[in-house]
Amino acid sequence: MTPPPKKFKNPRLRPGFQGRSCSIAALGSYLPRRVLTNADLEKMVDTSNEWILTRTGIKERRIAAPEEHTSDLAAKAALLAMQRANLAPDQIDLIILATITPDMPFPSTACMVQKKIGAFRAAAFDIQAACSGFLFALEIGQHFIMAHTVDTVLVVGAEKLSTIVNWKDRNTCVLFGDGAGAAILRNCPGSHGLLTTCLGSDGNKSDLICMPAGGSKCPPSAHSLASGMHYLHMDGRETFKSAVNAMHMAARDALRRCDLDISQIKCVIPHQANRRIIDAVSERLGATPAQVFTNLEKYGNTSAASVAIALDEAVQLGRIHKGDLILLIVFGAGLTWAAAVIEW
Ligand SMILES: CC(C)(COP(=O)(O)OP(=O)(O)OC[C@H]1O[C@@H](n2cnc3c(N)ncnc32)[C@H](O)[C@@H]1OP(=O)(O)O)[C@@H](O)C(=O)NCCC(=O)NCCS
Repeated sequence: MTPPPKKFKNPRLRPGFQGRSCSIAALGSYLPRRVLTNADLEKMVDTSNEWILTRTGIKERRIAAPEEHTSDLAAKAALLAMQRANLAPDQIDLIILATITPDMPFPSTACMVQKKIGAFRAAAFDIQAACSGFLFALEIGQHFIMAHTVDTVLVVGAEKLSTIVNWKDRNTCVLFGDGAGAAILRNCPGSHGLLTTCLGSDGNKSDLICMPAGGSKCPPSAHSLASGMHYLHMDGRETFKSAVNAMHMAARDALRRCDLDISQIKCVIPHQANRRIIDAVSERLGATPAQVFTNLEKYGNTSAASVAIALDEAVQLGRIHKGDLILLIVFGAGLTWAAAVIEW
């Protein structure tokens, strides 16, 4: 009897590989309660619901309360993921948190989250890859599991972008929102889990999206405040083109590494920045609308939290089942980008 055709290639399982696989054991997400609609924005800047909807696909976004910090959003997402994984705080070995809106420049927001969830056995640190941060963090966490260094990693993407958006700049303020998503990484016998992640960066285009002031290059000053340099700045048109190219190439590379065709992917979860970017990337990949999951109409671009929130929602809605192959694709400031293939 001929064996059934091989479903996919696991690029990690090369000769001499001594490690173990790493899976997402559970997910959690948290969105602040306050909803800011396009109609609300019409009262704040010279824009219209029609413009925002047709150019971006966004209808509304969530805004955290003044007393709700990035670490609070992150801790709420983390606690839900821990509850779903039936995990006690002292079982977490490592916390990796991705954000561009930390509670403060230091110490890390990951340490704030450690305190809030009581995971006192864990080591904790932040990483920064802007909107690509969750996949960069997932890849780092995966290597700790694969190398048997630790057993349980909490990966979080969390943002309070409402604090760095210029609410008088219609070019940017309509795009972003607050939120957090969390994943528990573990070895789950019987599943290949994270099959591959293709990461990339292009520092030559670091000017396209940035916050010019507040760091060592331009410390906070009366001038930096008066000139709005402490806000997020973006060249929308160039960012759009770079995003489509980089997301498409990263996704193609990830599929190729696993000997996969896009038709074998059950669910594509792209960074939720702009409906037109998602459509252009999907079309280039040959993904059907039924394969592609979006929720940006409700939350806008939540940067490092974006794919984590979308992945959690897709699982909760029954769009992903055990054994399904899924493709995550992200893009952000840096520039940075990544694509990951996961056997669920
Ligand atoms: C920002 C973005 C939606 C703008 O869409 P666009 O089709 O490129 O629009 P343009 O930048 O060409 O601007 C077209 C016009 O709309 C205007 N405009 C910009 N924002 C507007 C708004 N909120 N409401 C109404 N008009 C607006 C511009 O001023 C411009 O007017 P002009 O022609 O008189 O100068 C789009 O470029 C984009 O999504 N880029 C990527 C952003 C992104 O995803 N960033 C995060 C990556 S992680």
